[in-house]
Amino acid sequence: MLAPALVEAQPVAPVHPVLASGDLRTNLDLSGQWHYSIDPYRDGMAGFHGGDPGLGHRRYDTTDVAAAMRDDPAALYEYDMTRAPTATLPSSWLTHDATMRHYRGLVWYQRSFTADPRPGERQFLRFGAVNYRAHVYLNGKSVGAHEGGFTTFAFEVTGLLKPGANQITVGVDSDRSDTDLPPPVTDWETYGGITRAVTLVTTPATYVDDAWVRLTRDGRIAVDAVLDGKGAAGGALTLAIPALGLTLDGKADAAGHWTARVPAPVALERWSPDTPRLYDVTITAGADVWKDRIGFRTIAVEGDQILLNGKPVFLAGIALHEEEFGANPTRAITPQAARALLTEVKQGLHGNYVRLAHYPHSEVMTRMADELGLLVWSEIPIYWRVAFDNPQTLATARHMLAEEILRDRNRTAIAIWSVGNETPVSAARNAFLSTLAKDAHALDDTRLVSAALLVGRKQEGGASVFTVDDPLIPALDVMAVNAYNGWYTPDKLSDLASFVWRSPYEKPLILSEFGAGALAGEHDATRAHKFSEEFQADYYRATLDMASRIPFLRGMSPWVLKDFRSPRRQHPVYQQGWNRKGLESETGARKQAFDVLADYYAQHHP
Ligand code: GCU
Repeated sequence: MLAPALVEAQPVAPVHPVLASGDLRTNLDLSGQWHYSIDPYRDGMAGFHGGDPGLGHRRYDTTDVAAAMRDDPAALYEYDMTRAPTATLPSSWLTHDATMRHYRGLVWYQRSFTADPRPGERQFLRFGAVNYRAHVYLNGKSVGAHEGGFTTFAFEVTGLLKPGANQITVGVDSDRSDTDLPPPVTDWETYGGITRAVTLVTTPATYVDDAWVRLTRDGRIAVDAVLDGKGAAGGALTLAIPALGLTLDGKADAAGHWTARVPAPVALERWSPDTPRLYDVTITAGADVWKDRIGFRTIAVEGDQILLNGKPVFLAGIALHEEEFGANPTRAITPQAARALLTEVKQGLHGNYVRLAHYPHSEVMTRMADELGLLVWSEIPIYWRVAFDNPQTLATARHMLAEEILRDRNRTAIAIWSVGNETPVSAARNAFLSTLAKDAHALDDTRLVSAALLVGRKQEGGASVFTVDDPLIPALDVMAVNAYNGWYTPDKLSDLASFVWRSPYEKPLILSEFGAGALAGEHDATRAHKFSEEFQADYYRATLDMASRIPFLRGMSPWVLKDFRSPRRQHPVYQQGWNRKGLESETGARKQAFDVLADYYAQHHP
């Protein structure tokens, strides 16, 4: 029996503004040269004895420090952002400044830009992601703060923005405590910094703040839209999908909400990995036009089957981090980097699915999955030892989940929202994750919810029996398990085929992780030594053989497409700060196991 949820303890901050599909809105891209200055003791936040930082340290101030010190010899400023080094953003500081390789803490970023705000229009500063906490100032005034390194957020700056020169300052704090998400210890690099685009978005006085257009499981085109602004209540709206000859007029209610459903036109071509058909969709409301490119498909479970557009589907995938190919990668994903990674999955591995681990990836990546035709598992970083009994941590997790879903629920490729990875079972954990699963279903009744679980193992008559019975499963649509038999366990690879997998639940199972490390180019004629390509290849053969005997297995995302940075991996010969479980090296050199998986998918899941 699941322990009573403690959700109600802390109210969850609503996501506002949503600025749905804001990356496609008219905007001024603030990427480029920014000054930066480290602030290890957070002097810019709190001064001597914790008071106001004072003029001498207030990095976000608009004072021309050089002039002030020139004109008043007595003046004392212990920073000068305009003469500080510059970096090209978005990027992580470990990429743009090698001396900050392991820096965790506060860094100030600042740039000036020219704007031309028109009367009656509204302006928003939109951030793709800032890792971990962001403190945002415009023209010396605080406009807001945000927590969470992987979700999009925005602040309205109408009235604060000036015609002509403006100054934006962002204090980025990458330090995390045990009550943060994820907690400090992970198996991936904390790329501190402004890791995705910052844009100045302009809208009319009344605009479409949130919009969601999809195909429902009963075959109707559904639209929900939220107007924001004086003209929201009773505002007129029109949904249009020109390629389908579909237009739908409507009127918002008193709260500015519009919801409508129409039977899907017979001409509708459903999206699938083989036919990733996308449609241009607009919602016009007064002077505002919201737009996006959307595919229409249904995803559901029936017993232990996953159904895509009503037909059983096997998710032939791989897991990957948001890290481009390269010897010195950063986290700022460009369309080229996303295409390179996902093309390796689609064409290289013959896959139809990808697990974007362990946090919401950039919308550049999820849009690319829409376009290339790859189903997606998307997750928030509820990873390992989270403070499950902390109400504030739960409120942060719920807000993060809402940010993720509201940003990406028009992303057709996304099939599964995951609410946790390898979290130790406890009453608090069960309640925490069940609450998230309920939230995900409430925010999105068209997708599946899962979590990457650990699995118990028993010996029965000499056979190893794995029973998938985590107490969280009743709250999930799809079961998923991470298993590293033969890598983290002393099992002989030849034993894997005899493993028995069971579950008391009639639900589909995904092997959300399995894998073995190998240093590209490291070979071993005996095939027995870990970190050799031969061992990794044999590990894959044995695990795929085991997988093919699991009767309710409906997908897999082996760990991992390419080697990625991890501070936990410090073997001087085989790792040097990289997790080496990639099927490719960090620069894209394919290891032998790459072909083992590619052949398996080509043969078993064409
Ligand atoms: C875990 C975890 C990954 C990690 C992997 C590994 O299962 O989810 O984040 O990188 O195992 O040990 O390589």
